[in-house]
Amino acid sequence: MRLAKHSWAVGLISVLGTAPVDGHPGLMSKRGTNHTADSAQLKTWWHGTGEINTKTPVQNGNVRQSHMYSIQVSSSSDRNTFYDSFVYETIPRNGNGNIYDPNDLNSFCQDGNPNSCSTDDQITIEPDIGVDMAWTQYLTSEDTIVRVTRLDNGPVNPSDVVIRPTTLNFPMQLNDNALEITVPFSSRGYRFSVEFRDNLWEYHRADQQPNSHYVQNKVSTGVGYVSQYTATMPIVGIEPLNALLVFMSPFPSADQVPDLGPAYNVPQGLVTGLNQVSNSVVYFGPGVYWCTGTAQAILSSSTNWVYLAPGAYVKCAIQYMSSSLDLRATGFGVLSGEQYVYQANTAQGFKNTKSDDTSLKMWRAQAASGAKWTLSGLTLNAPPFNSMDFYGSDLSSFSVDASDYKQVGAFFGQTDGIEIYPGSHIRDIFYHVGDDAIKTYYSNILCERVTVWKSNNAPIVQFGWSQRNIDNVTVDAVNVVHTRYISQGVDWPRSLVASAAYYGNQDATNTADTSKHLSNFRFTNWRCEGICPGLFGFNPLENIDTMLFQNIWIEQLSPLPMTVGTSTFRVFTDASNKPISLGDNSPGNLGLIIENFQVGSESINIAANNWQSDQTGRLNIDAHWWGRWTVR
Ligand SMILES: *[C@@H]1O[C@H](CO)[C@@H](O)[C@H](O)[C@H]1NC(C)=O
Ligand SMILES: *[C@@H]1O[C@H](CO)[C@@H](O)[C@H](O)[C@H]1NC(C)=O
Repeated sequence: MRLAKHSWAVGLISVLGTAPVDGHPGLMSKRGTNHTADSAQLKTWWHGTGEINTKTPVQNGNVRQSHMYSIQVSSSSDRNTFYDSFVYETIPRNGNGNIYDPNDLNSFCQDGNPNSCSTDDQITIEPDIGVDMAWTQYLTSEDTIVRVTRLDNGPVNPSDVVIRPTTLNFPMQLNDNALEITVPFSSRGYRFSVEFRDNLWEYHRADQQPNSHYVQNKVSTGVGYVSQYTATMPIVGIEPLNALLVFMSPFPSADQVPDLGPAYNVPQGLVTGLNQVSNSVVYFGPGVYWCTGTAQAILSSSTNWVYLAPGAYVKCAIQYMSSSLDLRATGFGVLSGEQYVYQANTAQGFKNTKSDDTSLKMWRAQAASGAKWTLSGLTLNAPPFNSMDFYGSDLSSFSVDASDYKQVGAFFGQTDGIEIYPGSHIRDIFYHVGDDAIKTYYSNILCERVTVWKSNNAPIVQFGWSQRNIDNVTVDAVNVVHTRYISQGVDWPRSLVASAAYYGNQDATNTADTSKHLSNFRFTNWRCEGICPGLFGFNPLENIDTMLFQNIWIEQLSPLPMTVGTSTFRVFTDASNKPISLGDNSPGNLGLIIENFQVGSESINIAANNWQSDQTGRLNIDAHWWGRWTVR
C-alpha cells in the first residue's frame, strides 16, 4: 500500500516555475480580504509587502510570497471563519546564478576562475525545473482546519494529496476548489508537508556510476537535459516541485516571550548598530528587516536574547557576543539567509570562498564557558552554509535546548543542522537540509521527533570526521520524508546514520584512535519514506560498544547497482595497524544490535538470511566484525 504512492508519481503536468502570476497583492482579493486572526484561539499573520517572483531576488523590504498556494485557517471554536495565513516561498540561490560576489550577479563561479569559488554548490537542475519551497506558520490552542487553495487551479482532491510524514493521517476534504486539512491540536505543534500528485517530480540519475548527477527532460536549454530517460537513468527520489510545508505551533509559554518593555525595538528596514545596543533583549516586531549580502547582525555584549515576533522577517545572520550563560532566540519569526551567497566568507567581503571558520553561520556565538542556548519556535530560511556554530574556549561546555525549530530552503550543499553540544535536548524539529542533519559529536544528548527532508549530500546522522569519546546519545522518532541521493562516498557515506573518515586524511583507514570509545548510541523508532539510503555507513575512528538500532522502517532502498542503499561497516586501525574494537565492553560482546529492522514489508534478520549486501537488507559489514553484531 505504501509503495503504491510511487505508482502515481508518473509524469508531471503543468508547473508554474517560470510563469509570473498576476494579481499581487490583489491576489487575496479573490477571498475579499487579507483578514488575519489574533485571538486566544488562533493567530495568523500577513505581509503587506509580499512579492510573487519565482525568478530573482525580491526587493529588500519585500517577502517572497508563494506563487502557488494560498492558505486560510480556522479553529474549532469558530470553524467556519477562515483567516489568511501568509504563505512564504524560497527559491534556489534566491534566483541568482552560482555567484561569488553578492554585489555582482554576473560573478559566476567557473573552473579556473580567479574567484576560486566552487562550481559545485550542489544546485544543478533545480532552477531549470522550477523547484521551490513554500511554508506557512500559525499559532493555535485548538484543533484547526487548514484550507489550501492552489493558485494554478490544479487538482486538490484528497485522493490526489499525500501529507508527510504519512503516519499523521490528518483528515482531508474537498471544499469547492480548496483542500481542507483537519489538524488536531498538539502541545508539540506539527510540521508537515502537503504534496499534490500532479506536482511530483521524479529525480533521475544520469547513469549508474558511484558518483552521478541529475538529468531532466523538461527544459531543453537547461542543465542536464535529456530528451528521454533511459533504463540506466533510475529514479533516485520523488519530491513535489513546489513544496508546501505547514507549521502549526501552540502559543508560546511565558518563558519564551521576553519582557518587551526594556527591550531594544529594532526599526524596520536596514539593520545597523545592534552592536551598540545596551539592552539585554533585541526585539524584531512584525515587519521586514535586512542586513544586505555583505553584513550580518552582530549583537552587543549586553544582548543575550533575540526575539523575532510572529510576522518578523529578518534577512540577516545573527552573532551573539554576550558572556551570559543564558543565550536565547525565540519567537515565530523567520531568520533568512537569502541575501547571502553560498559559503559567504565574512573575512573576505562575504564572497563565496569556503572557510569552516569564517564562512557565515546564520547562528553564531562567541560564548562563555557553560553557556546554554535556548532556541524555540523560529524558522530559519535559506542558510548559505553550516547553519550554526558556537565559538569559545571550551565547546564541550556549551549546550542547546531547541524546540519547535524549522529549517527550510536549504538548497545549497553545505547546509547542516545545528550543533548538539553535550547535554543538549533537541526536539520537534523540521529540517530541510543539504549536509549533516543531526550531528552527534557529544555525550548525553537527546534528539527526538525530527522530520527530515534531505537533498543529495551527507547522511541524516553524522558522528565521524574526527576521533571522539562519546557516551549516551539517543536519536528517537525520526521521520525522513524525502531523500534524493545521486552519489555514494565510501569515505563520507550517504546513509541514515554515518561516520565519515578522518577530515584531515579522508582516504586513510589507519586514522582511528583506539584509546577512544563510542558507547550507548541509540537510534530508535525511525521511518524513512520513499526511496532511502542504507541504514548506516561506518568508518569507525574509535572503539564501539552498545550501539542499538531499534524499530527502523525503510520504505524502499535506493536501487542496485548503485550503492546508496547499501550499508557499510569498514575496518579502521590506528597508525600502528591495530583495529578498533567492536563490542569488547558490550553484553555478549555484541557491539552493534539491530532490532526490528524492516525494508518495505520484509523484516531483516539473521534467521531470515536476508541481511547480506545482495539481499533485501543490504548490509555490507566487513567479515572482520562477524560475531560482534547481530540483526534480529
Ligand atoms: C490588507 O489589505 C488592505 C487593503 O488592500 C491594505 O491597506 C492593508 O495594508 C493590508 N494589510 C496587510 C497586513 O497586508
Ligand atoms: C543521558 O543523556 C540524557 C540526555 O541528556 C540525560 O537525561 C540522561 O541523564 C543521561 N544518562 C546518563 C546515564 O547519564
